[in-house]
Amino acid sequence: MIMGDIRSGKTGLAHEIANEMHKRREIPTAIHVPQLMEPERKRLKKLVPSWMRVVSRRSEWPQHSVIIYDEAAQSAHARRSQSGQALELDELLAISGQREQLILFISHYSRKLDLNVCASVHRIIWKRPTFAHLLWERDEMADFTAKAYDFFRGVSGDVAQKKACLILNMDNFGFYHCTNRLPPWWSDGLSRIFKETHIRGRGVM
Ligand SMILES: Nc1ncnc2c1ncn2[C@@H]1O[C@H](COP(=O)(O)OP(=O)(O)OP(=O)(O)O)[C@@H](O)[C@H]1O
Ligand SMILES: [Mg+2]
Repeated sequence: MIMGDIRSGKTGLAHEIANEMHKRREIPTAIHVPQLMEPERKRLKKLVPSWMRVVSRRSEWPQHSVIIYDEAAQSAHARRSQSGQALELDELLAISGQREQLILFISHYSRKLDLNVCASVHRIIWKRPTFAHLLWERDEMADFTAKAYDFFRGVSGDVAQKKACLILNMDNFGFYHCTNRLPPWWSDGLSRIFKETHIRGRGVM
C-alpha cells in the first residue's frame, strides 16, 4: 500500500516499481482503472509502455503481474465493505500470492480504505503525509503514520521529499527508507489522468 498527501509522488513510485519489475524480471503490469471510457483508455495506453495493460474489472487482473490500483479508495472504499465488491476484492487479495500478483494499492490515507485491504498488506510505503492524515488515520495505523510524519519532517526540499519513501515491512515491523526515480515514460499527463477519470466517474463533470 502506498500512502501520502496529494501530489506527493505516489503514482510515480508505483510506475517506477513496475519499471524495475519489468527490467529485472520481465514482469508485466496491469493498471486498474474502473469507470474508464474508451477514449480515455486509448489516451492512457499511449502514455505507457506496451507491456502495461489497462483494465477496468478486477476479473481482468492477469496472473504473474504487477497491478497498479491507483486511487484505490474510490472503489475499495471503507463504506463499501459489506458489498459484494468488497467480498470479491477480499478473495482476490487472498489468492494474489498463488496468482503471483504484486498489487500496489494507492490511497491518501488508510481510513478511506476497506479494513480488509489494510489488513492484507505486506508493505506500507509512505510518501509525505500531512498532519491532517495523522489525525484522520485509522487507529491501528496512527502510530505508524506519526513515524512517517516525523521522518518526512527531516527531509528538506520539495524534490527530495518527492523522491523519499519510508517503508514499513508488516512481516517484522521493520522500517526502511529509500529514494525513487521516475520511469522513462513518466509525464504530467499520466500523473493527472486518474483525477479526470474519477471526477467524471462521480458525475461531477
Ligand atoms: N521521485 C520523484 N522525483 C521528482 N519529482 C517527482 C517524483 N515523484 C513525483 N514527482 C513529481 O511530483 C508530481 C506529483 O507526482 P505523482 O502524480 O506521482 O503524485 P501523487 O501522489 O500520485 O498525486 P495525486 O495525489 O494527485 O494522485 C509530478 O509532477 C511528478 O513529476
Ligand atoms: Mg496519483
